[in-house]
Amino acid sequence: MKIQLHINQTHHEIEAPAGETLLKTLRRLGIYSVKHGCETGECGACTVLLDGKAVNSCLLLSAQAQGHTISTLEALGEHPQQGWKTTAGLHPLQTAFVEVGAIQCGYCTPAQILAAKQLLERHPNPSEEQVRQALSGVLCRCTGYLKPVQAVLRAAAVLRGEQVEALQAGIPLFPASPASQPDDQPPLADFPTSQPVTATQTLPKVVVTPQVKTRQRVGKPDPKVDALKLVQGKPAFAADFEISNLLVAKVLHSPHAHALIKHIDVQKARQLPGVAAVLTWQDVPRVIYSTAGQSDPIPGPLDTFSLDRKVRFVGDRVALVAAESEAIAEQALKLIEVEYELLPALLDPAQAQNPDAPQLHDEPEYVNFADSDPTRNLAAEIRIDIGDVQQGFAEADHIFEEVYAVPKVQQAHIEPHVALSYWDADDRLVIHTSTQVPFHVRRILAPVLGLPVKRIRVIKPRIGGGFGGKQEVLIEDIAAHLTIATGRPVICEYTREQEFIASRSRHPMRIRMKTGVKRDGTITANAMQVLSDTGAYGCHALTVTGNT
Ligand code: FES
Ligand code: FES
Repeated sequence: MKIQLHINQTHHEIEAPAGETLLKTLRRLGIYSVKHGCETGECGACTVLLDGKAVNSCLLLSAQAQGHTISTLEALGEHPQQGWKTTAGLHPLQTAFVEVGAIQCGYCTPAQILAAKQLLERHPNPSEEQVRQALSGVLCRCTGYLKPVQAVLRAAAVLRGEQVEALQAGIPLFPASPASQPDDQPPLADFPTSQPVTATQTLPKVVVTPQVKTRQRVGKPDPKVDALKLVQGKPAFAADFEISNLLVAKVLHSPHAHALIKHIDVQKARQLPGVAAVLTWQDVPRVIYSTAGQSDPIPGPLDTFSLDRKVRFVGDRVALVAAESEAIAEQALKLIEVEYELLPALLDPAQAQNPDAPQLHDEPEYVNFADSDPTRNLAAEIRIDIGDVQQGFAEADHIFEEVYAVPKVQQAHIEPHVALSYWDADDRLVIHTSTQVPFHVRRILAPVLGLPVKRIRVIKPRIGGGFGGKQEVLIEDIAAHLTIATGRPVICEYTREQEFIASRSRHPMRIRMKTGVKRDGTITANAMQVLSDTGAYGCHALTVTGNT
């Protein structure tokens, strides 16, 4: 359908599918400051101002936005130095976010600034409570809220025409080179020297030894190198990328915890107009690998295939689809017919090692690492001894022993997993991915894709939070296999639901802790026994437990 939208003071007449959300339309138009974090109005990353009011663009159809004015961060302010052109520069909110250091990954920053703008237009002199309330609709997983609250209060003061004290970090108009920093700056005894007023103050105070004369950066507040980019909502993240001929990837996930795929029929899906490829375990090479982006050799078993004839958790992969649009890809998933042979589910790590427990990994290709043992569903075992623990307990006046359980926790980075792949002009497979481990992606995927490492180029743009969840080489192979199958660029972006059902989580653990203490509080011994549940695959089993 034809839609007319008034975005950032520009009139757009566009064609959009009837059910397209404003979030999708805006990003299709290259307005990348508007971010995808969920599809359900939970995170606020997609905030835009509709007639000056902050709304979630993922919940609004583009057709509903017709006749309203839409403002995004792109219209707020710009770099003050644009060659011969005079500009108004950054908006005080943007300046304050940079000066105060209110940006960590920056994925939520555009939404936070717009939410603050709405507030300041109505309440030029807001209380801290009002600022907190205004920002509460935008989830930030990394920065927290103290710095953004300080930034908004500072911007409010600037907008009221008040003098604000200069902060040490300042704004990097262009990335500063170390040579441009004088050596003889006095040491910073207190950092920051000033703070916008909030009830809560930033901790800790940094004290720098006065003897160090030559430092240029250490001990001094330093503005974030890409703060200017982020505060303007410029394309910085993996999905903020325009390429023609792009296909959308979708995954058919297993509804069963443990099953064999007896039969899979993808004919109807392949025949659906707009579908470019459907892949099952019969279509891709059977190469075993580990999704754990760690050292080489990987300290864990190789127990994963891109697609397998067996599924091992609810959410495991069954088939991959690439299509001209998300809607077509989703329709194709519904046309895939799968016949499963159900196997007994294994839900408790304590039962996993029983002799009669179902064996999750019975594939002959499984590659052991150290003490891993697939016949016992054991991905790793580690014992660390330091000192004489028994002696320590003998010296203790009190011994405390308890069993604790820590649950499964999803990392919940606001930017979901996203990977986009394409062949470049030199026939290298380029993978733009939101990853914490770009070099491991390249090394791990080379055999999986049948390419030498030098023909894979992994580009890691800015990452919208990872927290270890993006230390997994989780979806890059999906986009890559589909690019190989079709020859076309492919994007695979998880929904929030997929993050919960089909990505990884922190390992739930049962921990028996025994601690010996003297009467004066001295700890004399500590013994810890951990049973860690890595889920169906053994990725990071050894290292996470070892770090615990
Ligand atoms: S609230 Fe719209 S993307 Fe999360
Ligand atoms: S800085 Fe807010 S989500 Fe990362």
